[in-house]
Amino acid sequence: MFFMDIFCHPLWAALSALLALVVRLQRRAIWDPQACSVRLRGKTAIVTGANTGIGKFIALDLARRGARVILACRSESRGTAALNEIKQTTGNADVHLRIVDLSSMESVREFAKRILEEEKALHILVNNAAVSGLPRQMTKDGFEASFATNHLGPFLLTNLLLDLIRRSAPARIVTVSSLNHKRGKVDFSHFHGDNLVYSMDQVYNHTKLHNIICTNELARRLQGTGVTANSVHPGVVMTEVMRHYPFWLRYPFNLIGFFFFKSPEEGAVSPIYCAVSEELEGVTGKYFDSDCSLVLPAPLARDPALAVKDFEFCEKLTAKL
Ligand SMILES: *[C@@H]1O[C@H](CO)[C@@H](O)[C@H](O)[C@H]1NC(C)=O
Repeated sequence: MFFMDIFCHPLWAALSALLALVVRLQRRAIWDPQACSVRLRGKTAIVTGANTGIGKFIALDLARRGARVILACRSESRGTAALNEIKQTTGNADVHLRIVDLSSMESVREFAKRILEEEKALHILVNNAAVSGLPRQMTKDGFEASFATNHLGPFLLTNLLLDLIRRSAPARIVTVSSLNHKRGKVDFSHFHGDNLVYSMDQVYNHTKLHNIICTNELARRLQGTGVTANSVHPGVVMTEVMRHYPFWLRYPFNLIGFFFFKSPEEGAVSPIYCAVSEELEGVTGKYFDSDCSLVLPAPLARDPALAVKDFEFCEKLTAKL
């Protein structure tokens, strides 16, 4: 009874709000992009999913540093809105929109073909785009949609652009994964939609694990080329990744999130760190957390034999499409 009274008291509510506020104010990334003086004039960068959330802030930062930035987006209208906003805010006119649907291997190939025709170099590739909470659906390639969008599409895209990236070295490939990968599992039948449990973010968690595994194998293959490949956890960020969840779930999430989660701008900090910071020159095959610290990913993401197997499996899956 006593406890009930205490917890229902307005003072308790005020205290918890205050606590939440303190937590919010304390949360600051260690690395400050504003204080990083790296300039990117003469460099070309691609950011996938750059029309919203973290991706938009990554693209904004790269544009601010003077890079030629290509926003790889699925929606023409949303992409154009971001394009105009980024051009206006940064005063950089060398920002461009190219359409790609990462869930379709045909679309990825068309996008890559155009990039290879139009671009003389590619110094930074940020694989940021991802979906979460999709119901079970299959793509026309026969893949489970979240796996196609979050892993196979970015995987194929990176491989198709790899020669251009190698020729542009020093260059960086950054894969936005998630801490959630720790709860992910590797089951090759997942790619075809089998043995998947569509509860909450389960499928998302699996795809984020594959992101790190294949990025590590890519890094190994790229040793000595001047091209680095790293994975990063942006933090628990309020983005539209939640847009497929029902309202009743989204609403409390957003409410709590306002206090405890990062804004998309804060979430962009660790990916930007991986893409531009001087101290990561030559650092490859690593995983960084949202505070820009080098940390160990889950054991499954550190198994070199599994990495070879996964990479080759994904190569085979995407080869003929
Ligand atoms: C996905 O990962 C997150 C973070 O580790 C975890 O809280 C969540 O329960 C996982 N989802 C499932 C369905 O395992």
